[in-house]
Amino acid sequence: MPRLSPFSELRAGTPEDFQALAARIRTLEQEHHLPGNRVFYLALPPTAYMASISGLGQTGLNQTPGWTRLVVEKPFGRDLASATALNEQIHRYFDESQIYRIDHYLGKETVQNLLIFRFANAIFEPLWHRNLVKSVQITVAETLGVGSRAGYYDQAGALRDMVQNHLTQLLTLTAMEVPVAFDAESIRTEKAKVLRAIPPVMPEHVIYGQYTRGAVNGQEAPGYREEPGVSPDSPTETFVAMKLSVENWRWQGVPFYLVTGKRLPTRFTQIAVTFRCPPVWVFDPHYAGTCSPNVMVFTVQPDEGFDLHFEVKAPGEPLQLKTQRLRYRYSEGFAPLPDAYETLLLDIMAGDQTLFVRADEVEWAWRLYAPALDPPPPMVRPYPAGAWGPPEAAALMEWPDPTLLYR
Ligand code: BG6
Repeated sequence: MPRLSPFSELRAGTPEDFQALAARIRTLEQEHHLPGNRVFYLALPPTAYMASISGLGQTGLNQTPGWTRLVVEKPFGRDLASATALNEQIHRYFDESQIYRIDHYLGKETVQNLLIFRFANAIFEPLWHRNLVKSVQITVAETLGVGSRAGYYDQAGALRDMVQNHLTQLLTLTAMEVPVAFDAESIRTEKAKVLRAIPPVMPEHVIYGQYTRGAVNGQEAPGYREEPGVSPDSPTETFVAMKLSVENWRWQGVPFYLVTGKRLPTRFTQIAVTFRCPPVWVFDPHYAGTCSPNVMVFTVQPDEGFDLHFEVKAPGEPLQLKTQRLRYRYSEGFAPLPDAYETLLLDIMAGDQTLFVRADEVEWAWRLYAPALDPPPPMVRPYPAGAWGPPEAAALMEWPDPTLLYR
């Protein structure tokens, strides 16, 4: 049996390989009387993208009697310069209308639902504003470690692997203005405007962490540097917490916190929108306590749904307030949700680019994190597997207990 190449050894095809591929495709299309509609799906090691795109272009595989679409999996570059170069290379052979940059978070039903929740329900939109919102926190917590992907992950780290793409996409959908129409260009234009309004994130507003040996849910887990394929002195971060701001009329002054990490105590993805307290607290704090802010929590996964946390009077005397929640779960109303990739693959075939990342979006997202990615390497703080990241993260977040909302 031939030995499979490890990820790091994979290479782009030679010009001869692409000639052979083109000949094979044309033969198949003729034999089966196909209209020549083609999807090229690139899920490649970073080093193989440039040559593969020119291989497709130079053999004429970008032109067809039907339509041709190019799907590009992440990582889309590793910084602004490499992403811009990749976009330029793609645009030499393909029009932007043919490009489908994948971020699988956009295929999740609960992520798409952010648009429906916000723009099909008029009651929430007036609340979605600096006048009433105190902060927004977007958390993607994972219990798994790096697994067998050290070859890729050790070069990337959590900022490139998760924040620049998945968390940033969640942020744009949470913060964007209502689009003029529910179509790909209108929606992506509003998302790009959010990114343009965010000042670049400075390293002092980021806490980096790396898991050490510990236990997750009672299961012992090795430290990151002990994982197969990771060097024993790797400086790669497996946890990031950061604070940023969206400098537009809607959001000025509202902190947005992004948090993600591997080997955290629980797996969940949540967007928590915390509202301001009443301007005057008329209840006696001695009995009724102080304000617990209202919070709208979107649980993207698992146990998909949303919760509105609000105050009620606990029955009896003396007056006491208690936080309760209005709760909605997808499982109560619908069959199990489709996998994100099912949705995205169908959209590619249907030619709908709404859930794919446009060239300018990906470049703005890299521009945003450029200072945080620049050398010198950041200070990466250890945290034991099974903890909520390094303790400094909670201080940055003004958020003592990240599990508070996940109950
Ligand atoms: C991938 C990252 O894009 O997303 C992985 O490369 C991460 O490191 C994964 O584990 C998380 O995806 P999901 O859908 O399981 O939250």
